[in-house]
Amino acid sequence: MAIAQEFLEQLKDRNDVESVVSSYVNLKRAGRNLVGLCPFHNEKSPSMVVYNDTQSFYCFGCGAGGDVITFIKKIENLDYIEAVRLLAARAGLQMPEEGRDDRTARLKKRIYEINRETGRFYHAQLMSEQNKHALAYLTGRGLSVRTIRRFGLGYAPDSWDALTRHLRGKGYSDEELYAAAVVGRGRSGSVYDQFRGRVMFPIIDLRGNVIAFGGRVMQGSGPKYLNSPDTPVFKKSRNLFALNFAKQSAEPYLILAEGYMDVIALHQAGFTTAVATLGTALTSEQARLVSGYVSKVMIAYDSDEAGQKATRRAIGIFSDTGVEVKVLKIEGAKDPDEYIKSFGATRFKLLLEGSAGAVEFELARARSKVDASTEQGKVAFLRDAAAILSEIRNPIERDVYTAKLAEELSVSKEAIALSVQNILKKKVKDLKRKQSRELRLSVSGVDKLNPERAQHMRAAASEEKLIALLFKNPDYLDGLLEKMKPDDFVTAFNRGLFEKVCNLIQTGATPSLSLLAGVLTDEEMARLSAMLAGSEQMTFTKQQAFDYIDVIFEEKKKLTANDIANMDDGRLQDFIEDLRRKKK
Ligand code: UTP
Ligand code: MN
Repeated sequence: MAIAQEFLEQLKDRNDVESVVSSYVNLKRAGRNLVGLCPFHNEKSPSMVVYNDTQSFYCFGCGAGGDVITFIKKIENLDYIEAVRLLAARAGLQMPEEGRDDRTARLKKRIYEINRETGRFYHAQLMSEQNKHALAYLTGRGLSVRTIRRFGLGYAPDSWDALTRHLRGKGYSDEELYAAAVVGRGRSGSVYDQFRGRVMFPIIDLRGNVIAFGGRVMQGSGPKYLNSPDTPVFKKSRNLFALNFAKQSAEPYLILAEGYMDVIALHQAGFTTAVATLGTALTSEQARLVSGYVSKVMIAYDSDEAGQKATRRAIGIFSDTGVEVKVLKIEGAKDPDEYIKSFGATRFKLLLEGSAGAVEFELARARSKVDASTEQGKVAFLRDAAAILSEIRNPIERDVYTAKLAEELSVSKEAIALSVQNILKKKVKDLKRKQSRELRLSVSGVDKLNPERAQHMRAAASEEKLIALLFKNPDYLDGLLEKMKPDDFVTAFNRGLFEKVCNLIQTGATPSLSLLAGVLTDEEMARLSAMLAGSEQMTFTKQQAFDYIDVIFEEKKKLTANDIANMDDGRLQDFIEDLRRKKK
């Protein structure tokens, strides 16, 4: 669905990038721009810059970038139209052509129905006479029938087509089943049941829709747990298992466990705020989701080394959301499920009450790695401790821990504070270096968007400058086009981008990212934002534009015989034409 340009202009005017981004990210002013922690990757020091002049954002850490629409698409996990709709609602604008049911919305609705029906089917199978062994497996693991019902657990029979036949019988097409990912598809294109011979855990979103499944083998081969891939209604990184139940609890905290079975065992034992990630490590999106419900998270990961490592990661991710983190020490058992089985719910409750704070957890961990009774051990510990303290955002809190540590090790507080300051300074320096490196856009390795870039660095850089320049000075367009055509661009990617910008200007519009959001992919938007970000401090004269054009022509001439040999006829003709034009 194409959206009218005037409407997009209006939408953009009423949703300025600073106000939109700052409702998700804490932004600080830095000169003409704003900086903040990028919500699209996990980071401790801010790499995301918001540019008011181009109404764009760009993250120097992960390369995410674009306009307000791209931002909303990414952060809310919406498609283009949905993002426009959200921004329209935010600004109180009436969507044009509202009411037209678009295809995505219809497909999503069908997928929700398929998932619900699939959940019912699995549950009925679990309760049926012929699958007693599956029910016995779950009850054998200590789950009551009441718990099994509450979580809607099920069983996927060991068949290639039992579910497929059932759903076809309900009127769903193979295409729809595949979109819902309840079936896989073979080479020949025929579909087969995705989950076979597994006990099934439906994943339910906050509105009560079944959005995906996890399935555990009982015996036999294959991975222990198989999870639905992402589908139009499911994004692993944005959902948590059992959050639909946990959010109903009045407790001001969540318990974050690793596995489905941990969560279910916890709920059954009365800890109804337990949730888990879905077969992946915690993401910043999930942390943000959690921060919308609670101010505190109790991490109850497995007691093994992997669990401890994941705990450290999770602490880092939560520290960016303002959620307080406590860590449960699951000792004497592999995971919360087994802990409750061995020691009972009361012991677990004690564990919850006695949990250590995140900083204590990290300090204790660092301390356990050294022998603090030796000078050498003490120095090593202090070095690690300073790094841990440097991660604390709140200066008062940092001071409290610094004082505590100084006393404990009988060293001066000032000495510790100084090494913390040094680490913080180095972080700022690293960020600056990272930024200037990125500014040169010297993408190392293969540049997937613009694969010709590596070969034609100098030309590509000028092309990019020219594009950025045109953005700021659309009035130069006619003058530029007298000197060159888009075809003169050396790299095809930049050529395409340049053409789109030219076309936009020729419609009479002032170029803006928002007007291009509909015709560029997310990656292209990010790249364009990077170009704009790299040129934001510059003012361009027409002469500079001509200089860039000269560079492009110079570089083009250098195209080697090899390049010429590889040209298709069209490009070759252009090339010859070009040479002729230049000779005159
Ligand atoms: P664990 O291997 O710790 O399993 O995986 P568990 O939760 O203790 O499971 P039980 O008690 O043996 O049944 C923890 C989580 O990691 C994901 C699942 O989400 C699982 O709950 N996982 C694990 C997978 O996605 N795939 C796997 O093959 C294994
Ligand atoms: Mn387990």
